Amino acid sequence: MNDGMSGQTALITGGARGIGFAIAKGLARRGVRLVLADLDARQLETAQATLAEMGADVTCVEVNVADSAACDRAVDAAATSGNGRLDILVHSAGIGLERLFLETTDEEWSRMLDVDLSGAFYCCRAAGRVMQAQGYGRIVNIASTAGVAGGTGRAAYGAAKGGVVMLTRVLAVELATSGVTVNALAPGAIETDLVAQMHSETTRRVYRRAIPADRYGTPDEVAAAAIFLTTPEAAYVTGHVLAVDGGFLAAGILHKD
Ligand SMILES: NC(=O)c1ccc[n+]([C@@H]2O[C@H](COP(=O)([O-])OP(=O)(O)OC[C@H]3O[C@@H](n4cnc5c(N)ncnc54)[C@H](O)[C@@H]3O)[C@@H](O)[C@H]2O)c1
Repeated sequence: MNDGMSGQTALITGGARGIGFAIAKGLARRGVRLVLADLDARQLETAQATLAEMGADVTCVEVNVADSAACDRAVDAAATSGNGRLDILVHSAGIGLERLFLETTDEEWSRMLDVDLSGAFYCCRAAGRVMQAQGYGRIVNIASTAGVAGGTGRAAYGAAKGGVVMLTRVLAVELATSGVTVNALAPGAIETDLVAQMHSETTRRVYRRAIPADRYGTPDEVAAAAIFLTTPEAAYVTGHVLAVDGGFLAAGILHKD
């Protein structure tokens, strides 16, 4: 399978694990050259080994996306690996926090904005410059349903992800005539390590009650939506926020136990 994407180059932040890694696998199956950027060096090694077994051309860079210069370097590394081209940015690096607004500390607030919002800004800006110059690009930011609806305990996380949603729209507008599309995914509850750490049993019970599909999603289900947005065919989809949430954002009254 290549969907006309074989030989393209993709930078995937947070690509060592979870949703980012699932997207990396999906792009590898389409013959896309991968550059994984992540904070976790050990996880990067594991991810690289798995992708190499699939026959993927994959390079890894250790990056903290809260560091603007490091994001510039990651984009440079990706463009170098693509002989000057960077076709796809999937920005999945992020952290979570479940904390009531009145109990959120200054440090938690700042850390969440630094990683989840500024990280998206730095990576999109660096990639956007390369893509605008080459006249083609696909940017997919992994936001969250928490950036669209006001969930309990999501003050800092939701504000950061809401910022990612607006950043996506503004960038989409500014790059619309450059052949560059910019979209966001708003995943709901997806079974990853992040969720294993963040969701208590109570959160899981409450969440499932609010999901029409009555289950958590999988990273591969998020990857399927992300891959569509990275294809050349998705040229007229830009500034969109696509929920991958089992109907969570669509729901009103739910008849469930
Ligand atoms: N899992 C969910 O239910 C869910 C729901 C909505 C949105 N999201 C978003 O999806 C994205 C991926 O989440 P996931 O569930 O796959 O999490 P995960 O923890 O499994 O993977 C996140 C990856 O990002 C990396 N990372 C974290 N901080 C970083 C930093 N400062 N610099 C570089 N890399 C960093 C981690 O090392 C990890 O490999 C996140 O942005 C998250 O907010 C997840």
